[in-house]
Amino acid sequence: MAAGFFISKTVGIVAIVLGVGAVATIIALSVVYAQEKNKVTDTGNTETTTTATTNTAVTNTAVTTTTATSNTTVTTTTAVATTTADPSLPWNRWRLPTALMPELYEVTLQPFLKPDANNMYIFKGNSSVVFVCKEPTDLILIHSNKLNYTMQGSTMASLEAMDGSSAPRITKTWLVPLTQYLVVQLDGKLQQNQRYRLFSSFIGELADDLAGFYRSEYVDSGETKVVATTQMQAADARKAFPCFDEPAMKANFSVTLIHPSDHKAISNMPAKSTRQVVIDNVNWNVTEFETTPKMSTYLLAFIVSQFDYRENMSDNVLIRIWGRPKAIAENQGDYALQVTGPILKFFERHYSTPYPLPKSDQVGLPDFNAGAMENWGLVTYRENSLLFDNTFSSIGNKERVVTVIAHELAHQWFGNLVTLKWWNDLWLNEGFASYVEYLGADSAEPSWKIKDLMVLNEVYTVMATDALATSHPLSFREEEINTPAQISEVFDSIAYSKGASVLRMLSDFLTEDIFKEGLQAVTENNVSLPKSISDIMDTWTLQMGFPVVTVNTLTGDITQKHFLLDPNSVVDRPSTFNYTWTVPITWMTNTTAASKDRYWLTEVSATNDNFKVGSNDWLLLNLDVSGYFRVNYNQENWNQLLTQLSSNHKSIPVINRAQIIDDAFNLARAKYVNVTLALDTTKFLSQETEYMPWEAALNNLQYFQLMFDRSEVFGVMTKYIRNQVTPLFNHYKNITNNWATIPEGLMDQYNEINAISTACSYGIPECQNLATKYFENWKNTTNNTIPPNLRSAIYCSIVATGGEDAWDFIWDRFQEATVVSEADKLRTALSCSPHPWILNRYLQYTLDPKKIRKQDATATINSIASNVVGQPLAWDFIRSNWKMLFSQYGGGSFSFSRLILAVTQRFSTEFELQQLEQFKADNQDVGFGSGTRALEQALERTRANINWVKENQGTVLAWFQEQAAAAA
Ligand SMILES: *[C@@H]1O[C@H](CO)[C@@H](O)[C@H](O)[C@H]1NC(C)=O
Ligand SMILES: *[C@@H]1O[C@H](CO)[C@@H](O)[C@H](O)[C@H]1NC(C)=O
Ligand SMILES: *[C@@H]1O[C@H](CO)[C@@H](O)[C@H](O)[C@H]1NC(C)=O
Ligand SMILES: [Zn+2]
Repeated sequence: MAAGFFISKTVGIVAIVLGVGAVATIIALSVVYAQEKNKVTDTGNTETTTTATTNTAVTNTAVTTTTATSNTTVTTTTAVATTTADPSLPWNRWRLPTALMPELYEVTLQPFLKPDANNMYIFKGNSSVVFVCKEPTDLILIHSNKLNYTMQGSTMASLEAMDGSSAPRITKTWLVPLTQYLVVQLDGKLQQNQRYRLFSSFIGELADDLAGFYRSEYVDSGETKVVATTQMQAADARKAFPCFDEPAMKANFSVTLIHPSDHKAISNMPAKSTRQVVIDNVNWNVTEFETTPKMSTYLLAFIVSQFDYRENMSDNVLIRIWGRPKAIAENQGDYALQVTGPILKFFERHYSTPYPLPKSDQVGLPDFNAGAMENWGLVTYRENSLLFDNTFSSIGNKERVVTVIAHELAHQWFGNLVTLKWWNDLWLNEGFASYVEYLGADSAEPSWKIKDLMVLNEVYTVMATDALATSHPLSFREEEINTPAQISEVFDSIAYSKGASVLRMLSDFLTEDIFKEGLQAVTENNVSLPKSISDIMDTWTLQMGFPVVTVNTLTGDITQKHFLLDPNSVVDRPSTFNYTWTVPITWMTNTTAASKDRYWLTEVSATNDNFKVGSNDWLLLNLDVSGYFRVNYNQENWNQLLTQLSSNHKSIPVINRAQIIDDAFNLARAKYVNVTLALDTTKFLSQETEYMPWEAALNNLQYFQLMFDRSEVFGVMTKYIRNQVTPLFNHYKNITNNWATIPEGLMDQYNEINAISTACSYGIPECQNLATKYFENWKNTTNNTIPPNLRSAIYCSIVATGGEDAWDFIWDRFQEATVVSEADKLRTALSCSPHPWILNRYLQYTLDPKKIRKQDATATINSIASNVVGQPLAWDFIRSNWKMLFSQYGGGSFSFSRLILAVTQRFSTEFELQQLEQFKADNQDVGFGSGTRALEQALERTRANINWVKENQGTVLAWFQEQAAAAA
């Protein structure tokens, strides 16, 4: 229950354990930072303390024992499978005991970039760890996964005491594959406060599994090149070397890499020395790196490659952007290089703390599972999140690069310098970075107004999940998160996007300056709040979901209720706050400007005269959607808002125009309002040119498309959308001089893309002809003249309206693409085909890493599933391949939940529900790993969809028919 930051003793605070709720920890951050910032270069014996943890025992385990004979590599293991492992045995528990604390690791790793005689890629390594004994024990438990050890005499490790005393003798060592330990049994106890050094030597596989120390491949001038690289978060450092692999077990690391002389080696810290050695007649370089500051194992990184880089200096920090030589030669790293310095400076000011390390390397990798990883001083990215090409990449690609860089650099302080004790509080780490990434990106691209996009990209996106009874609170209890699959599962949209949304709300009601300065400032400035910050924020972090606030403008009555997308769903998760929140409310009316003060709704219902308006007036709550909640009104006020939208929509702020649409559609899905009210909010769009309202409407109509594109509704719906989007299409045609120039702002460029993609996908002939014309020209001249922003939409139209030839043409371009953002667009467009046999073949390609990289497999399946023709094919494919997918892509991979949600998103019939239930039953034995909660959510959504379609189909059909009749 206690949420605490893990910090070191040198800052004078043993451990911050702050009752319930994690908010005070954010606020306390500034204090922690202020004290921590001068200590980062201190590599001395910093003592670390953690509070004791409750270990949850496993119920099944396979103990592997080893009989040692010589100093050859251990591979002989006897598996002892026990159905009920004794939970009192420490190695059957997932959490490390706290008896031993690591201080310093010296790790040497040698990756082989060519396969061995068995056609396996391997790395060799050895490592020693100095640890201090906190409680006497005769057992050493250290994480180790998939490593084969070389015997040290008769055991897998050797032990010595530091400071001249003697260590107990190792009697036995063995591996526990399930809980991923190397266990070292001693014949006597380690003594309290004594230091020891444990040494081992090992071999691991340099697999292409995107986890631990792994390999990535790319082709350069016809030659396949291998990169050895790492992804340690969350629990895979143990796959590279034996370590105490929990975030609170911070230590110093001295890394040495042995690498081919024609390959560069980089790690978290700068290289200290490199020398040449000859091993088995081959030249190798031995590069030693400076010792890191105290840090967590999950932030380690090392890369051996033939990458190139571009560099500059920002004050005293060396910045380098690394990538494939061809990409760097084509200047694809230049945009990242240009924005990194300013973003680092921004965060230095934001945190009032200098960048903690001497250098900042950022590397774009051809194969990478997540979007990016904030390894301290050596941030790794998917290529599409770091590299940008002026001639190929779109504005969306650019936004992605600058926001991901800002996100990862934000972690260099928050997360890396100050680290969460355990993964249950991950939301604080990720939510904070997901919030300040917008501030960092805004500082690099101030003209974009990118902070406004949080409403669409974070708030509304995550509300879709958080409105389910199967959602979960931001904060978990520490003992709820134990296994690597459970850890992986906490990296979800709740942690990132809801975390960001509630921190944005907190920052809004405190003001950004006070939020930044933290607790001290709050007391000094005496911000007027109804309760303490912790008490307010606990209602948002300790219970799942969010409220819908309903106001009656005739009476001024205001109420709140837990908003559930499916009103029939049953919430069985108890909440100490009974699903009531402390809600900060801003408002305006057609006659009064935006309120400066907030109205705080602390109870289920209240009355406020400010919310009573005249019969020809309207009231609007939650300005700029700074609060994480939805708003409903009495019918009279809705009507006034609709009238305002149709007469002069600009009287309502643009973000709130998006809000009216998004709230109305979601309230309709939850049966608070009629579906016709929701549809009515889209009528003014024929006069609207702003991005945010359009995007909100398109996102919501997407749901109608998913529910109805297999029914007669879709015909009349198509007509309506064509009518609404035609003025927008013409607007952009005019202001871009027939698509020849690029609109000015970020949002304007995005809305041009909306205009094209909606017009083409809903079959407006002028748009499809435009696409065909571009395509003909491209085929005939081999010169692609499609503006980068429009490529995704145009490529999709080409594939959708063309046959096998068009598909093959795009496939060939995909295979030869050297700019990854271009390859991504082509790969996604290939799923737009209307031909089942082509889509089925494409699904098969996702299982062949030579055709579709593993990192892109799930995204490709998802885009096929979003095509109405592809959806049943993708579902069949997932069902028949689940066991294989699960084993090949690992139970801990990040994307299983997205895969399940994507293939089931159209489900709205009893038959589909039965299939889904059957799927769940059939695969109980294999399990669903990080997709477990997603499966429950899919079941809940399907049930809600069935009811919704049943109840609304007739009304929706009639509404669209009425619009068609009016337009005719
Ligand atoms: C075993 O260890 C001894 C001494 O450490 C060494 O001389 C010998 O070469 C090793 N044998 C193998 C097979 O590595
Ligand atoms: C480790 O040993 C196992 C069991 O013999 C073997 O299958 C695996 O290939 C070995 N791994 C490496 C990297 O040598
Ligand atoms: C390898 O070591 C030699 C000798 O120290 C050095 O000149 C060379 O730059 C090193 N190569 C790499 C790639 O580090
Ligand atoms: Zn992050």
